[in-house]
Amino acid sequence: MAPSQSPRIAVLIPAAGSGQRVGAPTNKLLLPLFGTAVIVHTVRAFQAHPSITSIGVITRATDQPGLQRCFGAGTARYRLLPWITGGAQRQDSVYNGLAALAHDPPDWVLVHDGARPCCSTALIERVIAALDAAPGVVPVLPMTDTVRRIAASHSEVLPREHLYRTQTPQGFHWDALWEAHQAARKAGLEATDDAQLLEARGVEVAFVEGDPENVKITTPQDLGYAEWLLHRKS
Ligand code: CTP
Ligand code: MG
Repeated sequence: MAPSQSPRIAVLIPAAGSGQRVGAPTNKLLLPLFGTAVIVHTVRAFQAHPSITSIGVITRATDQPGLQRCFGAGTARYRLLPWITGGAQRQDSVYNGLAALAHDPPDWVLVHDGARPCCSTALIERVIAALDAAPGVVPVLPMTDTVRRIAASHSEVLPREHLYRTQTPQGFHWDALWEAHQAARKAGLEATDDAQLLEARGVEVAFVEGDPENVKITTPQDLGYAEWLLHRKS
């Protein structure tokens, strides 16, 4: 339900991966991008919004000293909660983040990949605005390439007009997401994003336009592109 007053919004940032595909000796989120660690850019994107009351970064225990160094004395300014320890899969990490908020839950929660440091204020606003009308909101972008499904003995082009790339931040009403995560854990249901867990329960998810510049750093090439984007915005 949409709250009657201005909603209290928490942000959870899953950052507990290891960044294998980037192949750096440290987690990709601790690598410098335009002079500042990737994860610091990601957190900064949410700093300005007046309804965002807290930001929880979910990380591996071994990365926590490195993170502390990246943020230094800035953790209060960024409204950061104490580091939350992640799990084996992204879904486990988000679950741990929700569990850390559950004693004093916000009205709404945004979940945003730590690996997306170029998230714009306009995109955050679009997701938050859509939460007035739907319990789950997902930014998507239409596919521009032709997409082919290739199996062992057969290949086919999929009709592109129904295919979209999915981004974060995804936004949720607290009860919808926490209940969906608990139900998924009980049922052993695994998903690659959070909205899928709502959809599995028949809960409505609304879609807003994503942002092509909201790149997810996955490979070393993405680091160069993200750095160029941040440089251009600065
Ligand atoms: N993530 C997480 N917990 C995990 C795995 C991933 O919190 N157990 C986070 C990552 O830190 C990242 C986001 O989920 O911010 C998206 O995951 P991905 O881009 O796949 O990052 P990694 O899993 O770190 O990278 P890779 O798959 O290349 O190892
Ligand atoms: Mg991964």
